[in-house]
Amino acid sequence: MAPVDWQSAWRAGRTPWDAGTSPPALRKLLERGVVPPGRVLVPGCGTGYDLAALAHADREVVGIDVSEEARDAFTAAHGSLPGEVVYEVADFFAYRSPAGFDFVWDYTFFCALDPDRRPSWADVMKRLVKPDGVLATLLFPYEDPVSGREGPPWPVNATMVERLLGGSFEVLEVREEEETHPGREGKERLALWRRQS
Ligand SMILES: C[S@@+](CC[C@H](N)C(=O)[O-])C[C@H]1O[C@@H](n2cnc3c(N)ncnc32)[C@H](O)[C@@H]1O
Repeated sequence: MAPVDWQSAWRAGRTPWDAGTSPPALRKLLERGVVPPGRVLVPGCGTGYDLAALAHADREVVGIDVSEEARDAFTAAHGSLPGEVVYEVADFFAYRSPAGFDFVWDYTFFCALDPDRRPSWADVMKRLVKPDGVLATLLFPYEDPVSGREGPPWPVNATMVERLLGGSFEVLEVREEEETHPGREGKERLALWRRQS
């Protein structure tokens, strides 16, 4: 299968993944106090509703996506947000940050990548997450074991992510999310990974 041309998809308005609002799992993480103050990254953030959900006076929230259209949709939808929120049109795999991140939120980014890019995804996460920082992956569509169904979204699971992260992250929890976007019921698991110091 040919790799997805994300910029063309955005330009053509072919964005069936865009739920228009953050998933309940992110709201619950925020309620539980799992998201720390400090620097937060959202790779492949699309129209950026998760940036708005994560925005807080004590946080610098950085979203990255390859699409200018997605960035423009974010800018049009959100006025002033608390704290600092920066949307960068950039390639995650080439992304460099002057400092590491305390928290990274990956929802429907990992599953969107061609499987051969997954080791690079893990390498970039190892580079970007600070020691003791947390990588939160809301894994969708969750299959264990994974079927041979081609994506995106590619079927994913926690064992796969654990292997990719190697000994660089420890798993804090893997939980099934009961409340999801409509149509994603039973297909989401939240997995939290702490970067080893
Ligand atoms: C399936 S969409 C999910 C968007 C968003 N997370 C959401 O839930 O609505 C995947 C997003 O990743 C972006 N993307 C794909 N490859 C990327 C890359 N190498 N660097 C940054 N963003 C990328 C796409 O443009 C797209 O917006």
